[in-house]
Amino acid sequence: MQALKSFDLRELPADFYEDPYPYYAALREHEPVRPMPDGSFLLTRYADIQAVYKDTKTFSSDKKIEFKPRYGDSLLYQHHTTSLVFNDPPLHTRVRRLIMGGLTPAAMAETEPGLVTLVGDLLDRMEHKQDVDLITDFASAIPVEIIGNLLGVPHHEREPLRAWSLAILGALEPSITPEFFDYANRSLSDFLDYLKVLVAERRLYPGDPHKDMLTRLIQGEADGEKLTEQELLQNCVFLLNAGHETTTNLIGNGLYALLEWPQEKQRLLATPALIHTAIEEFLRFESSNQLGNRITTAATVIGGVEIPAGSRISVCIGAANRDSAHFPDPDTLDISRSPNRHLAFASGIHQCAGMFLARLEARVAIAAFLARFPHYTLAGKAVRGGRARFRGFLSIPCRLKPD
Ligand code: HEM
Repeated sequence: MQALKSFDLRELPADFYEDPYPYYAALREHEPVRPMPDGSFLLTRYADIQAVYKDTKTFSSDKKIEFKPRYGDSLLYQHHTTSLVFNDPPLHTRVRRLIMGGLTPAAMAETEPGLVTLVGDLLDRMEHKQDVDLITDFASAIPVEIIGNLLGVPHHEREPLRAWSLAILGALEPSITPEFFDYANRSLSDFLDYLKVLVAERRLYPGDPHKDMLTRLIQGEADGEKLTEQELLQNCVFLLNAGHETTTNLIGNGLYALLEWPQEKQRLLATPALIHTAIEEFLRFESSNQLGNRITTAATVIGGVEIPAGSRISVCIGAANRDSAHFPDPDTLDISRSPNRHLAFASGIHQCAGMFLARLEARVAIAAFLARFPHYTLAGKAVRGGRARFRGFLSIPCRLKPD
């Protein structure tokens, strides 16, 4: 309980990054609406978080007030306050409509053959090695290609995308150093310079708006509603970032969880059709996006706690997804869990626009990996990303075919 007393998202204890779940459990039980030293509130119960997602009038996603003292007049401020995820309607609605049209299940199904080939090629390259890194050799190599295809980024120009994306999203951590702030700002500046050229070229040589997201975003709605240049560039950055680390982490977290739960791995090997419910369980059990934020537009009450207008709210998806009031045996990995209405993709008007794509990538990647290397084991200590908001690994050393 002592640990709970001093719990602060901006100064997390070292063991939190390895295993945040005991902290989440204690918070859910003793202080589910927890006032933080900086005046914000941290929510850990499923029902409270679900209610926040539903009430978009009281709980705004607009981050202009919150990010001003944090980012000043920097490019990071411009970016994080122009992307759709950190806006309310009407900007949010305009951008979301354009993006969603290119991310429907039908549109995603068309990408499946290319994805299967990409994963197959990665597995072929690994076939001749004894040990690989599940993150660098496999999990992180998939989303960069898929998102690159979505926006038509030429293959040979994709290399810097991951580092840019890690830096820009890393700036959203509850606490960052001035050095990291500068680094993230520089990454964003490089990213924008790159995109300006890509957008100018695409204006000259448009693609098929049904297949090419960048062309969709440039052309805007048929009724004439168009994005400004800033909205276009910043939302492209967001789109390229949003699908990167989160999906890498889903694949890495899933393959790691199966090593920790060998009986579940055996079940999946014996019944590959369980892959669909298994992906939902990986999303619930080790949600790659653990934290979200809202700001109150009016005084309100959550779980009996009075919250003033203008309060910053952190919703802890990772805690909601382990809430025993909603999930029986929440700390047990059950790859056939049903129902499994987790909040890994959030809920409501901001629910993840890329969820069909993320699920598809994880399903194809994990199923093909298991079929090829069913006996994979750890070949060293896995290194966690060390972030509170995005949960995943930097490295998972793996032996593919142990003797
Ligand atoms: C496992 C992978 C993923 C996870 C766990 C995830 C999670 C989330 C969450 C929790 C949100 C809501 C944030 C909030 O409102 O507080 C979100 C929004 C969003 N995600 Fe994802 N995401 C994933 C993959 C992707 C992919 C692959 C793409 C795009 C190709 C994507 C694009 C977006 C977009 C555009 C939004 C903003 C939606 C809006 O504000 O209306 N995501 N995501």
